[in-house]
Amino acid sequence: MRYDSLAKGIAITDERGEILKDVMQKNMMFQNEQLSDSILTSMPQDDAVKWFGTVPPDLTLVIRYRGADWVYTYLQSFYKDPSRPFGVNNLVFPDVGMPFVLADLQGEQELTETGLKIVKPGKLSPEQYAATLTDLVAFLSFAAEPTKVERKNLGGFVLMFLGVFAVFTYLLRREYWKDIK
Ligand code: HEM
Repeated sequence: MRYDSLAKGIAITDERGEILKDVMQKNMMFQNEQLSDSILTSMPQDDAVKWFGTVPPDLTLVIRYRGADWVYTYLQSFYKDPSRPFGVNNLVFPDVGMPFVLADLQGEQELTETGLKIVKPGKLSPEQYAATLTDLVAFLSFAAEPTKVERKNLGGFVLMFLGVFAVFTYLLRREYWKDIK
């Protein structure tokens, strides 16, 4: 994904479809990147291993192999665990290396006998937090595969074409073999 395709994909553009460069630079491009550059992480891998024990994965790949629902649930499932380096653990990803970066939005959760419970509210209500996560995973799905909607629509037409084509091919075959005994 490049900065310009991202801007066009999520419509950070003016009425004429031109990319709003200022908005992109102020909010998303922090290191003098060009709009045509690929969006890459700025975290050095060696440092990441020192800080988190492992390198943060490419989320566009994660959303593809785990699915949006899993990532949504994962971001709902952090809970307090003082035995872990960042003080949090995750119900669907035991002993996760990632700090819970959305804690100020969701608040703090504890694992109780009946499940996860918010013990300290965050800036968002549970409903608002859920809506934010829905947007977040929808965005990641888009970033992972911007042409998905187009591909799915086109797929239907391709199958329809093959279906119709098969009928004609079959009729043609009958015609050819008619006189061959
Ligand atoms: C909203 C922002 C973020 C989202 C949506 C997110 C999401 C995820 C997801 C879904 C995984 C699981 C990947 C897998 O299946 O292997 C993961 C792992 C990880 N994330 Fe994040 N992450 C975010 C921010 C961050 C930040 C800011 C850091 C570091 C400062 C970070 C560090 C890590 C690390 C180190 C792992 C690997 C954990 C392990 O394998 O134990 N993440 N993240």
